[in-house]
Amino acid sequence: MTLHNEPASVVEARVTSSSSLYRGQVIAGPMVRVSALAFRVLCANQGAGVVFTEEMVSAKLSKATREVVVYRIPFGLLPNNNKTRPPIDMIRLSNEGTFDLSSNESMAQVNARLVDVDVVEYVVYEAFKNMLKRQVVFSTIARSDRNRLHQHVDLDDGGNTGYYPEGSPLVAQLGAADPAVAAAAASVVCEDVDGIDVNMGCPKKFSIDNGMGAALMSAPERAGAILKAINDAVNSPDRVASRPHHRRIPISFKTRVFSDVSASVSQLRRVVECSGFCVHAITLHARTRDQRSETAPLQSHAELVVTQCRREHPTVFPEGLCFVYNGSVDHREQADLFVKRRLHTSPFEGAMLSRSAMWDPSVFTAHRHTTAPFVSEALGSPAEISRVYKAMMLLHRVYHTNFTYVKYHLTRSYQEFPCVKKTVHPKMQSARSYGAFAELVGFDRETAQRDFGMITFEELLPKSATVGKQDAVRQRESGDEILASDAPVAKEARVEGLTSSA
Ligand SMILES: Cc1cc2nc3c(=O)[nH]c(=O)nc-3n(C[C@H](O)[C@H](O)[C@H](O)COP(=O)(O)O)c2cc1C
Repeated sequence: MTLHNEPASVVEARVTSSSSLYRGQVIAGPMVRVSALAFRVLCANQGAGVVFTEEMVSAKLSKATREVVVYRIPFGLLPNNNKTRPPIDMIRLSNEGTFDLSSNESMAQVNARLVDVDVVEYVVYEAFKNMLKRQVVFSTIARSDRNRLHQHVDLDDGGNTGYYPEGSPLVAQLGAADPAVAAAAASVVCEDVDGIDVNMGCPKKFSIDNGMGAALMSAPERAGAILKAINDAVNSPDRVASRPHHRRIPISFKTRVFSDVSASVSQLRRVVECSGFCVHAITLHARTRDQRSETAPLQSHAELVVTQCRREHPTVFPEGLCFVYNGSVDHREQADLFVKRRLHTSPFEGAMLSRSAMWDPSVFTAHRHTTAPFVSEALGSPAEISRVYKAMMLLHRVYHTNFTYVKYHLTRSYQEFPCVKKTVHPKMQSARSYGAFAELVGFDRETAQRDFGMITFEELLPKSATVGKQDAVRQRESGDEILASDAPVAKEARVEGLTSSA
């Protein structure tokens, strides 16, 4: 019997074998160069029920090695598992301390109580001129660090269901074109994440040319084979048996709609069938492959697709399979229309926010004080923007976000805010250091220089040094895109500036 012909009872048993990761959740969506560890910790802290990584290209991730590195995090900036959601300028990420941005508590005071945290970095080493380039493809807080974190983080159960190292369940999103490579990449990271998602909607040239993203919309058999290969690899009987509570890793995908409803229905059906019915959830971005994000989403069109999927193919899309809505959801109140099923006509059971979270991670809070339709209007004054981005900068700094990511995130966001677009945004474009960004978001110059540093890590390095892998690991700092060198002195000084200036 082929998998495609499995009886409905088997199908249902498979799909519902783990409780839904996504149902009822407001989700921080995947964003390249934005969804780094620091951003995810802040989104989770502000109320995102699930957080996504950026899309990681399988071919690269499959070659990565797993390295555990100790980060020294001020306890006030640790992830929070107790689900209280403070205002963003009153970050209380751990249970033991509040880092109050609205007071003038200095970084030195905060640094006085540092916690060593094991962070898993997935690293690739590439020859670059006569140097070894160390690139962190993905990082997350180690699950094995429960013991070290447990004094600081509220662990509310003994297994996997209540404790998430970043504060909320973490889904790794893969860019994939080939089933075997996708399975290899998923196998590399699966024990450090709570779900694996495949990007089947990215319309960018790089993705399409390489058979990934939206290219898979017109190749549903290959798309399904990718999901099946991932599921077979990460949920093999041996692997499941070895996990606490015999946890299965939910497999999902994110795609866009076709302009024709029935084309979407048959695409989704074929993907799920060819996956061997392993699909746990589908995120539907309510735009076609050719529509830009600035255009209004096709919400009712997407609803029709889901309704038709359920009605016409109930065994392919049983209740256990969750549909998540994505497309211009600007804040929690809007998201709740989906997740709390206040839109009785909507078949969606979860909502994903991407750009609105990029602009303002506090969109996930229930008590966010805005009724403005767009977050960029809600953040209407430089002071409000500063509240958010000072918090973001602190997290970027302590969780070692690659500088190019910080720059991308801030410049992309600041161009959306009318009140700073003409003043601060142009300065951001020429900013070249963490310190410069810290100052631009509102820290005073002295704090910015002392706690964030005025130069980028790359600029500290001699141009001709060549180092081995061990040196590179030992000399790690801000993650991605680092040219490792044997001249760690200045870099160490910068780390000291942040972590032990007390
Ligand atoms: C900067 C940026 C990066 C993105 N990267 C990804 C990605 O890695 N994977 C993906 O599936 N979608 C990606 N997207 C698309 C978003 O996740 C989302 O589908 C799209 O922005 C529509 O949702 P929104 O209206 O809530 O922003 C990205 C969008 C932006 C703005």
